[in-house]
Parts: sequence; structure tokens; C-alpha cells
Amino acid sequence: MKYDLIIKGAEVATAADVTRTDIGVIDGRIATIGLDLGNADQTIVATGLYALPGGVDSHVHISQPAGPNVKMADDFESATRSAAFGGNTTVLPFCLPEDHQNLREAVDAYHAKATGNCHIDVSFHLIVNRTDPQTLGQHLPALLEAGHTSFKVFMTYPGMRLTDREILDVMAVAKKHGAMVMVHAENEDAIEFLREGAELDGKTGPYYHAATRPVPVEREATHRAISLAEIAGVPLTIVHVSNGEALDEIRRARVRGSRVHAETCPQYLTLTADDLDRSGFEGAKYVCSPPPRDEENQVACWKGLEQGDFELYSSDHCPFIFASPEGKQTDGAEQCFRHIPNGIPGVETRLPLLFSEGVNKGRIDLRRFVALTSTNHAKLYGLYPKKGTIAIGSDADIVLWDPKLNKTISQDILHHGSDYTPWEGFNVTGWPVTTILRGKVVVDNGILQDDSRHGVHLNRNLPGKPV
Ligand code: URP
Ligand code: ZN
Ligand code: ZN
Repeated sequence: MKYDLIIKGAEVATAADVTRTDIGVIDGRIATIGLDLGNADQTIVATGLYALPGGVDSHVHISQPAGPNVKMADDFESATRSAAFGGNTTVLPFCLPEDHQNLREAVDAYHAKATGNCHIDVSFHLIVNRTDPQTLGQHLPALLEAGHTSFKVFMTYPGMRLTDREILDVMAVAKKHGAMVMVHAENEDAIEFLREGAELDGKTGPYYHAATRPVPVEREATHRAISLAEIAGVPLTIVHVSNGEALDEIRRARVRGSRVHAETCPQYLTLTADDLDRSGFEGAKYVCSPPPRDEENQVACWKGLEQGDFELYSSDHCPFIFASPEGKQTDGAEQCFRHIPNGIPGVETRLPLLFSEGVNKGRIDLRRFVALTSTNHAKLYGLYPKKGTIAIGSDADIVLWDPKLNKTISQDILHHGSDYTPWEGFNVTGWPVTTILRGKVVVDNGILQDDSRHGVHLNRNLPGKPV
């Protein structure tokens, strides 16, 4: 057999095994896994490296409308470039309809923005921010059937949050079609109550973003979201879980027999609310929702990863420029925390942070690392086994990982559109050196290859169903 590409000498890791073997690729797919494969047009010698399934980051925000005069720092080109450098080969961004758009028009607009601009593959989740009969009766079912098989609802953010009744109505559509509902669980009324109180007291700095979204705000909403899903009879995914009490709600629900999936993110493992209290306006760099908590909750989230309570570890990449009136400083550096756009960049640092803090420190093994960063995302969102594993017939989406490469994370070495990283100065060991999408090298030893915009949009199967 003549291969297009052979990867030779790596330790090949999947969610199930770690094996010293070679990989032969034909027409963008894995054709053979074994030794002595013979000839290929291109051979990559990867001795001393791991070959891992390309990262699948199922929670990113790209070019998403973020309010009047606010602009996200990444378009599809820069976000997927940054993701590729971070060892990812697929990202799942959210498609949010603007006021003048229905869901169908929003999806069309996202396709127009993404087409021809992606260095890796993408697949859109939908955001359901209104529940009129046309959205729930026509657009949502049609889009689900067409392969957009998951959507997010918000219990917070003015203008985006849905009421409990609306969430139930959306869940009923998910039940009919077998789709996955993702929930942002924070209680908006409680937040607004606390926000108004803080403002009256003149507590307006970035830290009060965290102080007005305390753990009970998330714990209560997590419990309510799960209860609504039980009432509607659907599985759900609680995204960006930040603390132990919300996780306890999830554990309890599972004991009851609820089908609840859970995701956490690097910010809840490595940052704390103290980061929002940095001097000047620096804290704005860490404003995201839910906010980072404290060390006790970091430990709880690590435990959740170690014990398998979290199936997903995503970035929630949502980048803004710090030094810009279109970014974190919409009204200047003195503005109230209420007006700071929520979100932080992180698609490029997701894998190195988990590898270094998780695998190297003995909290999780390499197979769980692969499951948390790739395989489980592909399985849950209907992309497996095309994506998320190294197996015969799967897309040849492979990252070559140097487990010994030491880096100090800094804005200078990253490739996103933001002007900062929340992990500036953070030291990690283990870094992706080469990223391969469907058999084509996108990033080669830290260099983006010419003509690398081969990423396509992937229509997905229903959650858990193989593609
Ligand atoms: O602060 C965050 N997480 N921004 C992104 C939007 C979201 O809620 O996921
Ligand atoms: Zn969210
Ligand atoms: Zn998000």
C-alpha cells in the first residue's frame, strides 16, 4: 500500500490505549495502524513525541455579536489559527442570532464568515435566545435535521436569558428531535439583585463581577436546569461548571438517574476571583461568567476531572481586546463591572494547561487527557468516530505532542486576536508541535503552513450517534 503520509515512531494515545506504533494515512483518513508500513509521499518521524487525536474544543465563541460597539477579538481565521497552534483540529463555535436575524439567517451568516477562512474544521452549535413559534416550530427543527444537533440556552445575560417556561419549550423541541441542550446555569435575577446592591455601595471595580455572581447563583440555576430537563425528559449538558456545589448537584442528579453531562474549563482549575482584583483595571482581563472562584473550588473541579464527573474540558474561548473601547474598556478603564464584556481567550492554552497541571502532576493519565480534550467532545456532539480518535477510517486529525517541551505562556507566543492572555507568565511542560488536519500539516514545528485554510464545516449526527 502507498500512503500519502506516515507518522513514524510516536507513542500513539487514544482514550483507551497508549501504544508505540506507526500511522498510515490515505486521502485524509487513517488507513493503517501498525509497524513497517512501507512507503509514503511524506514521512514524519515523531520519535519522543505523542501522537494524539486532534483536540476538539466544543465550547468556543468566534465573531459572535457581543453588544453595541463591542467586538470579539477573533474572526474565524485568527480563532482557528490559534486553535491549530494549540493542538486542536475541530472547534464548535456558537451561532447567535442578532436582533434582525432569525436562526436560519444567523446560521447562513456564520457559514459566510467561516467559509474559506478556517485552518481547522468547525461545527456550529446554535444559541436559542427566543422562543417564538417560527423559531421553535420551523427554524430549530430544520437546522437540527440539517446537522446542527446541539444548542445552548442561557439562564443569565439580559436579552439572552430564557424563562423557565421558555427553556421547557426549547427542551420539548430537543426531545422530539433527539438534540442536546447545553445550559449556561446562573440565576439572572439573583445576579441583578446583587449587582444593584454593589453599585449602590460604589463597588464597581472588576472584582465585583465575581462578587455578584457567587456560588449559590450557579448552584441554584444548575439544580433548576437539571430539574427542568427531568420534567421535559431530556438529557442536558451543563457547560462551564466552576465550583464544587454545582458539581454536587450534578452528581446527585445522576444518582437519581438523570442524564446530565458536565463541562469545566481551564479558568476554574487555575485562576481565582483574586485575579479579578488585580490592580488598576487589570482584573477586567479575567472577567468571565461564571467567574473563577477560590482554591477550594479549584480542588473540587480537579476532583471532578479525576473521578470522571466532568466528561468535557473546553476553553470557553471568548476573546476581547483589553486595551480597546470595542473590548474590555467599552467605557474606559473606570467603567462599572456591569459593562465589561464577559469572556477570556483560551483556545490555544487549553491543552497545555491540562497536560501540565493534570498529566504531569499525576492527577489524570494520558488516556483521560485525550478523552477530556477530544474523544468525549466528539462522542457527545455527534462527530465520533470521524473525529476524536486515532482509528482506521477516522479523519487523520493528529497532534504531535512534545511532553518535555517547557514553555512560559505569554501573549508573545500565542496566535489569537486578543492582546493578552490570562495565563501570562504561567509555566507549562508539554506543548503541541505539529497539528495535522485530515492528513495535511497545518502547523509544522510551530510554523503555520501556507495555504492551510482547509477547514470545513461539519454537519453532525445526533448526540452519541456515530458518524
Ligand atoms: O464569560 C463568558 N463565559 N463568556 C462567553 C459566553 C458564555 O456564557 O459562555
Ligand atoms: Zn455561557
Ligand atoms: Zn461560552
